[in-house]
Amino acid sequence: MKQNTLKAAVLISGTGSNLKALINAVESAGLELNIVRVVSNCEDAAGITHATAANIPVKVISHTAFPDRQSHDAAVTKVLQQDQAELIILAGYMRILSEDFTNNYCGRMINLHPSLLPLYKGLDTYNRALLSGDTQTGASIHFVTAGLDSGPVISQVKIPILPDDDVASLSTRLGPLEHKLLVATVELFCNRKVHYQQDSVLYLGHALEQPLQLKHDGSFF
Ligand code: GAR
Repeated sequence: MKQNTLKAAVLISGTGSNLKALINAVESAGLELNIVRVVSNCEDAAGITHATAANIPVKVISHTAFPDRQSHDAAVTKVLQQDQAELIILAGYMRILSEDFTNNYCGRMINLHPSLLPLYKGLDTYNRALLSGDTQTGASIHFVTAGLDSGPVISQVKIPILPDDDVASLSTRLGPLEHKLLVATVELFCNRKVHYQQDSVLYLGHALEQPLQLKHDGSFF
């Protein structure tokens, strides 16, 4: 690993398939990323096994052990600081974050969200797209700011919604594309091509007017 390889922490709550995609990309596809820590707020998160199999240090910080959101986030922050994580990747981390936490990591924390933001912040995104009669859905990666799922959007991938689609079929089709979106977007950070500036995304030094769009082969256009 090169000396200036980006140090990242990945925060999860569940299956961890996106964490696994990042680990695979590091191990087999030359992604220059040093995953220094995985944090889970759920001790039974299946994704923890992906981290341990790859010898990545794991810290379980159960939110149920803390009196409030702020003290839980402070415990997470302490770990991330000890690890000197430069990029915080929320990959299925199902927690609303305190303002202290989002302020502390402003410009250094990204979240994967299963909708075409700004549509459908929060939960139940596929169902809401179906109920609205949308003709497409997708996933977005955005910088995390104080508002829920509201920070500037870096990248997206889109799929059409077909007449017979339901939540399960959308999730099946979108899952592998989310993995590609996360790997390709994290690679932009590894190559220092993306930065945060005053509530916008700087890509190659210029403010993005639209999120980068991922082709289904895993590259951006
Ligand atoms: C992903 O589909 C991601 O978009 C979603 O959780 C899933 C995690 O899957 N994130 C959110 O809903 C965040 N609001 P994984 O645990 O298999 O990576």
